[in-house]
Amino acid sequence: MILNTPIDMHLHLREGKILKDVLPYTESQFAAAVVMPNLVPPVDNKERLLSYKEEILSNSKNFIPLMNVFMREYSEEELKELKEFIFAIKLYPAGITTNSEGGVRGIETVYPVLEIMQELGIPLSIHGETHGFVMEREKEFIPVYEKLAKDFPKLKIIMEHVGTAEMLDLLDKYENLYATITLHHLLLTLDEVAGGMLNPHYFCKPVVKTPKDRAEIQKFVKSGHKKIMFGSDSAPHPIKNKLKGAAGVFSAPVILPALAEFFEEDTETFQKFISDNARENFNIDVPEKKVKLIKEEWTAPYIVGDIKPMFAGKIFKYKVIS
Ligand code: NCD
Ligand code: ZN
Repeated sequence: MILNTPIDMHLHLREGKILKDVLPYTESQFAAAVVMPNLVPPVDNKERLLSYKEEILSNSKNFIPLMNVFMREYSEEELKELKEFIFAIKLYPAGITTNSEGGVRGIETVYPVLEIMQELGIPLSIHGETHGFVMEREKEFIPVYEKLAKDFPKLKIIMEHVGTAEMLDLLDKYENLYATITLHHLLLTLDEVAGGMLNPHYFCKPVVKTPKDRAEIQKFVKSGHKKIMFGSDSAPHPIKNKLKGAAGVFSAPVILPALAEFFEEDTETFQKFISDNARENFNIDVPEKKVKLIKEEWTAPYIVGDIKPMFAGKIFKYKVIS
């Protein structure tokens, strides 16, 4: 099976040693990825953005990082300058996930920024959760998505890492809403985190949810819905931090083998989910890169640097060859 120009629409690469450890796994499977800006301090100005991009490029040979900046109250001048260097601006409600303390407090505070983004054609990427009960945070955020979709009808808004099935109903209601789906929200439920022995490696924000949510998400993805795109939200944390409760699943090493099993023979829908939908929805123009999978047993790595990957040690039916 050959995939054309796979794109990961939501990726955490971190910096320094972790970046060096994890980037080869994404580079061997993807042509490009949207790189999230929640570093410490966040990527929220041109200098930091360009030096971070340079760090990524200097650690890869054949990979395009599509950069995001962290939402704050940018001026029109700053946005005009940033536009050519970024894919989107990522909005985190303050304190909602890893390194988001400097996020947005009250969505109205960034309405002037959203107005300019709409005018300049800069997409908005959102971590859509409230501070409510953990299983209901995404559901409670639905009215915020609806208000934004109506208030900024020309602004393209990406609902990131959707884990609650009802959110996907918004896609057909609002032309300007799009969604990314992760591997873990597609394949896991809360049972894998807390149903037996506690598994902190599958703890992430938003948390993986019910079997019903998973079944609905699978149905949407299998339908080939044009506005649904793959975004891994692969979020590496050293094991010692995971054991202290850090949120994030490191899925990068196993993505294509796991998705190949999920889609089985339906390579057409797989191709749309992993690339075509994203490229068409957002006019992403990156050089073509073919990635080949063969039907041969492959064992997922047990450990990458100090990080434990999703499905560590699992035997898959497909193997990526470069
Ligand atoms: C992400 C991280 O570790 O940066 N964690 C996560 O649980 N998904 C941040 C995020 O995307 O929420
Ligand atoms: Zn993320």
